[in-house]
Amino acid sequence: MQAPDLSPAPTTDASAAPARPFPTVAVVGLGTMGTGIAVAVARTGRRVIGIEADGAAAGRALARIEEATAHAVDRERLSPAERTALLSLISVGDQLDAAAAADLVIEEVPEQLELKRELFAELDRICPPQTVLATGTTSLSVTRIAAATGRPERVLGLHFFNPVHAMKLVEVVRSVLTDPQVADQAAEFARELGKEPVAAGDRAGFVVNGLLFAYLNQAAAMFESRYATREDIDAAMRLGCGLPMGPLALLDLIGLDTARTVLEAMYEQSKDRLHAPAPILGQLVSAGLLGRKTGRGFYRYEAPGSSKPVPEQGAAEAVRVAGRTVESVGVCGSGTMATGIAEVFAKAGFPVVLVARSQDKADKAKAQLARSLDRSVGKGRLTAEQRDRTLDLITPTGAQADLAGVDLVMEAVAEDLAVKRELFAALDKIVKPGAVLATTTSSLPVISCATATSRPQDVIGMHFFNPAPAMKLVEVVSTVLTAPEVTSTVLELCAKVRKHPVECGDRAGFIVNALLFPYLNDAVRMLEEHYATVDDIDTAMKLGCGYPMGPFELLDVVGLDVSLTIERVLHQEFREPGLAAAPLLEHLVAAGCLGRKTGRGFRDHARR
Ligand SMILES: NC(=O)c1ccc[n+]([C@@H]2O[C@H](COP(=O)([O-])OP(=O)(O)OC[C@H]3O[C@@H](n4cnc5c(N)ncnc54)[C@H](O)[C@@H]3O)[C@@H](O)[C@H]2O)c1
Repeated sequence: MQAPDLSPAPTTDASAAPARPFPTVAVVGLGTMGTGIAVAVARTGRRVIGIEADGAAAGRALARIEEATAHAVDRERLSPAERTALLSLISVGDQLDAAAAADLVIEEVPEQLELKRELFAELDRICPPQTVLATGTTSLSVTRIAAATGRPERVLGLHFFNPVHAMKLVEVVRSVLTDPQVADQAAEFARELGKEPVAAGDRAGFVVNGLLFAYLNQAAAMFESRYATREDIDAAMRLGCGLPMGPLALLDLIGLDTARTVLEAMYEQSKDRLHAPAPILGQLVSAGLLGRKTGRGFYRYEAPGSSKPVPEQGAAEAVRVAGRTVESVGVCGSGTMATGIAEVFAKAGFPVVLVARSQDKADKAKAQLARSLDRSVGKGRLTAEQRDRTLDLITPTGAQADLAGVDLVMEAVAEDLAVKRELFAALDKIVKPGAVLATTTSSLPVISCATATSRPQDVIGMHFFNPAPAMKLVEVVSTVLTAPEVTSTVLELCAKVRKHPVECGDRAGFIVNALLFPYLNDAVRMLEEHYATVDDIDTAMKLGCGYPMGPFELLDVVGLDVSLTIERVLHQEFREPGLAAAPLLEHLVAAGCLGRKTGRGFRDHARR
């Protein structure tokens, strides 16, 4: 395998493209996307020829454009004078022949291959040979649409995102036949619209949906297998990864019918089972539960089109047994997670015994914690008095015996099963009966820690996220042997330390990593296949999905070695061929390129 070029893609030489490409643009199909695009194009001062299916549809389209621009004036995104000028640039009719006057035609009709192919054949007949024809398809083959014309070299995809005025990304999709100069012109045109173009080849899903929908599908399958509740899956991804929406809420927004169509198209090309639509999607679609637009999908909404979920009828809060009393806590470890978790408990007023392998290590961990508190004071998040009170609650020690009296022990030592089992066996002998023993492992089985003790019913996972003081999420992992009151204890404790708990079973990756790492791995594969560059993929996911970081930025921060370990654990657990770690990730780890910590991962950080 040839290693892909990991350096940033060369930027297009704008001077090579003619100034101001496509002065007149036709938009065919003025629905959700077409309306937004027509307005965005007119805002650049270009003439827009809007074309709808018939007179009545044209009337409705014009009303939509007027409404959208009036809304922009209300929001002060447009002045009344700009609106008048903008509207004077847009004409709307129902005659496709009008497209003959355009330099670029953007098609935004419904997602049906035959409809689009017929339209392109007609446009090919109507428009002069130099006119560029662009399809707005999300999941259909641009090549097959281009093949309906006699000018496939002047046909490409322009994939805008909804809502067009807010989303900055445009995927510029080239088929093997698209003239590169035409693609460059289209990219320049997108830039003039204030958008960020990324280059993509013609394959189902392009960059963004190709990575997004596999992840959404896994979330649907996770819900279907009752591994976790829909609320917990969504909260886990929002709070654990900083995503703007949880996957099931996002599926409801996209529309389950659309999601299924995109996944079907992806599966048809990839034959990867992870792209085969989760059966639950088919069931919901067959039942007419398409998401927000019909008022019900994974969630139930106040009304069709509403974004406000309502509780399920008859869904009573699960009756829980009461938890045990926790008044003091022990934390084992002296690393990032241990000090972060100790800070969380002490800040919430719990006395914390912080146990390291020596008194010196424990003192250093406390000093580290003090520095973190100082930073919070510096930022005005904590008063000096609160800092001192928090620090007073922490007792650093090198003696495990000091844990004898605590009500809960949090283990946060090295991610090594032998080390953890040895510690749990020791805790079993020291800690008083009835105390809860929790592990913060992110990739090892909690049950293996439990069986190292004589009290597996008291052992549970509390998976905190890094940095623990800032990240709200805790995955609460009960094994098949965990006592219900121990689960209750931990859920109640999370509320007391102001964390958001989500519940899941004891299997590889829990919720967050099981959904996050396959997506990161898919991004590495996309790079490995030379489908898109590191920068384009990162830009596409940030702008197309509102993610705080692109997949390669995140991999470099997390560490490629850590990522590879998690991917191996997931593959080992589920034996799904699509989950096998991408060879490129293995090679980079073997070469010592582990990300930010070594100065080089997918990007060269030393040079920046
Ligand atoms: N909605 C999204 O979130 C989204 C995002 C990106 C891309 N897309 C893609 O954009 C395209 C348009 O989607 P949409 O959501 O705007 O659809 P839509 O249903 O809102 O609008 C389609 C419009 O096309 C018109 N139309 C149908 N046949 C026509 C014809 N022969 N000539 C002229 N007009 C015709 C319809 O009257 C309708 O107004 C699709 O290919 C879709 O996959 C949609």
